[in-house]
Amino acid sequence: MRVFSIFSIALAATPVLSSSPGSQQPILAPASTLSQPSIGFGTWRLTNSQDNTTESVSFAIQTGYRQIDCAAVYGNEKAVGKGIADGLKKANITREQIWVTSKLWNDHHEDPALVEEALKQTLEDLGLDYLDLYLMHWPVGSEGGAKNHLDYVEVDSPPLKPIPFENPIPCIDSHTDEFSQTWRSMIALPQEKVLHVGISNFSPHQLRKIIGATGVKPFAHQMEVHPYLQQTAWLATHQALGIAVTAYSPLGNANPIYGDKGPRRC
Ligand SMILES: *[C@@H]1O[C@H](CO)[C@@H](O)[C@H](O)[C@H]1NC(C)=O
Ligand SMILES: *[C@@H]1O[C@H](CO)[C@@H](O)[C@H](O)[C@H]1NC(C)=O
Repeated sequence: MRVFSIFSIALAATPVLSSSPGSQQPILAPASTLSQPSIGFGTWRLTNSQDNTTESVSFAIQTGYRQIDCAAVYGNEKAVGKGIADGLKKANITREQIWVTSKLWNDHHEDPALVEEALKQTLEDLGLDYLDLYLMHWPVGSEGGAKNHLDYVEVDSPPLKPIPFENPIPCIDSHTDEFSQTWRSMIALPQEKVLHVGISNFSPHQLRKIIGATGVKPFAHQMEVHPYLQQTAWLATHQALGIAVTAYSPLGNANPIYGDKGPRRC
């Protein structure tokens, strides 16, 4: 039996306002005409078994998913990549007929060479020549070796304090706007390897910072959006800016804060 977690489905809002003033063109002219499919197959937590990860991704493509959402920090891009290859073959479609998103992890921020190295690794692991969309996973960098921590800090409401963790790891201080430099490095990535670049988990302040620093808007912003976290004002801001929003955990998150509203998983 094939098991799909409802938590690993990413749902994407297609870019809207295509005819309104100020609507966004892709930052990097896409070499392909595929637009971001409305529904995607998420690969977070597909780590129980490499074979099952491969089979799930392959089966998703065979059943009709045309967007696969990946990230370096999920630790499964090799198995996911095998699934993509298998799914394409079995569905008898080509790479250009699917949309693949991946995400830059926090330990490869700022330096353009580091950012490009992370992209190169992801492409190698996924077995692909290019990504349709590459996102900055979090608006904060960490020092090397901190792969499994979501080491973000709050920046919007002073006083600025790191969120406490049991085993704190060194973070690049988010009082700075190091993520603007990371964004600069991302928009300079080779166009033939990433068709679009975007962000994930940014606050309004952080979004303003990167646009202010570079004049370049993200193609898409992936964030948690679902019935318990609707973020309507924030979505309206994106509509006005012409930035596509991709909802993660669209059917609800495993966060214990929702514990009495759904099954607890952590
Ligand atoms: C992998 O999937 C098979 C069924 O295809 C199942 O029996 C097995 O328990 C799964 N393995 C893991 C580690 O989840
Ligand atoms: C696979 O797709 C190609 C091109 O669309 C088509 O010509 C071919 O018949 C398909 N093969 C199978 C086994 O369906």
